[in-house]
Amino acid sequence: MTKNVTDAVDPKLVPQRTLRGGDKIPCIGMGTFGSDRFSGEDIAQAVRGGAEVGFRLFDCASVYGNEHLIGEAFQDIMKSGIKREELFITSKLWNDMHGKGDVLLSCAKTLKDLKLDYLDLYFVHWPFRNYHPLGAPPDYRNEDAGPYNHEQYMETWYQMERLVQAGLVRHIGTSNMTIPKMKLLLKDARIMPSANEMELHPCFQQPEFFNFCIEHGIQPIGFCPIGSPTRPDRDKTPDDVVDIEDPVVVKIAKAHNVHPAVICLKWAVQRGQIPIPFSIYRNEYASNIRCTIEDPLTEQEMKELETVDKNCRLIKGQVFLWEGAKGWEDLWDLNGEITR
Ligand SMILES: NC(=O)c1ccc[n+]([C@@H]2O[C@H](COP(=O)([O-])OP(=O)(O)OC[C@H]3O[C@@H](n4cnc5c(N)ncnc54)[C@H](OP(=O)(O)O)[C@@H]3O)[C@@H](O)[C@H]2O)c1
Repeated sequence: MTKNVTDAVDPKLVPQRTLRGGDKIPCIGMGTFGSDRFSGEDIAQAVRGGAEVGFRLFDCASVYGNEHLIGEAFQDIMKSGIKREELFITSKLWNDMHGKGDVLLSCAKTLKDLKLDYLDLYFVHWPFRNYHPLGAPPDYRNEDAGPYNHEQYMETWYQMERLVQAGLVRHIGTSNMTIPKMKLLLKDARIMPSANEMELHPCFQQPEFFNFCIEHGIQPIGFCPIGSPTRPDRDKTPDDVVDIEDPVVVKIAKAHNVHPAVICLKWAVQRGQIPIPFSIYRNEYASNIRCTIEDPLTEQEMKELETVDKNCRLIKGQVFLWEGAKGWEDLWDLNGEITR
C-alpha cells in the first residue's frame, strides 16, 4: 500500500518498542477521537491514509462512536496487502461496561465493529464506572457515580484478564490512572498491564508517573501529545496553556523548519512514550509519522523541552465527578492518596 506514495515512510524504518512478553509496538500511533468536531467518515478516511503513509498503530475506543467505520477502513487496509499482524490495534472499555459480563460484551461489540478477531491491546478507559450521557452538561452528576472503588476495579480487571486467556486480546492496559491506584492494581493483578494510556505533552510531562510506569515495565502511551488544540470546548478552561505556542517549542520548531506540533511528537518519541496524535489532514499526519525517522532533537533541545512542563492537565475529567466531589482534582489523587 505504501508503494508509489510519495509522502509515505517505510513502516519498517519507524522505531518500535517492546512490550512485556516481547511483542513489538510502533513508537507512534494515530488517534481516532474526533472531539465532536470531525465526522466518523473523515476519521476512517484518515485511518486509510494513515496506513498509506506508514502508520501501523491505531488507537480506537467504543465511546468515540466510530469503530464501525474504522472497521471498514481496516478491511480496506488489509485488502491492500497489509497483513493483520503488521497492524497494532487498541480499543477501550467504556465506563458503563465495567460490570461482570459487560466486559466481554463490550469487547465482542468492538471486535465486531472493527471487523477483527483479536485486539492487540485493550484498555480500561477510566478507572471509574461513572457514566456521563452524551450531550449532558459538564455539571451533570449520575446518581450511581462515586469515587474509586478498588474492589469494583478488580472485578473489571479480572474480566479483562479473561479476554487475554480467551485469545480475544493480546495485552491489557490502564488509562487515566494515578500512582496510588496503579500500586493497588499491581498488587492484585494476575496479568500485569502492558501499557498505560495517559495525558502527556511538553506542558504536562507527569515525570513521576511516567518513571513509575517505565520502572514497572508498563509502556506509557501519550494522549493529547500536541496539547489537543481541537479538544471539545467542554474540556477547555481559562488557565489551560497551549503547547504549540510555547516559546521554547516554537523556537525549536523554527530551528528544524517544522510545525511546533512536530516538535511535540519528536520530544515524545525520544523521551520514550508512544504518542498517538490525531489529524484528518494528510499533510499533518504524514509529517507526524515522518518525524520519527529523520532529524532528531539534540540532547540540548530535549533538556530545554523538559523545562517547558507547566503541570497543566487538559483532560481533567470533570464530567466524571460524583455528587459531593470537590472538583476535578479529586480524580487525580494529587496528595498521593486515593480520594474517597
Ligand atoms: N485515553 C484517553 O482517555 C484519551 C483522552 C484523549 C485522547 N485520547 C487519544 O489520543 C488521541 C490524540 O489526542 P487529541 O486528539 O485530543 O489531541 P492531539 O493529538 O494532541 O491534537 C490533535 C490536533 O492537533 C493538530 N495537529 C495534529 N498534527 C498536526 C501537525 N502535524 N501540524 C499541525 N497541527 C497538527 C490538529 O489540529 P488542527 O485540526 O487544528 O490542525 C489535531 O486536531 C485521540 O485522538 C485519542 O485517540 C485518549
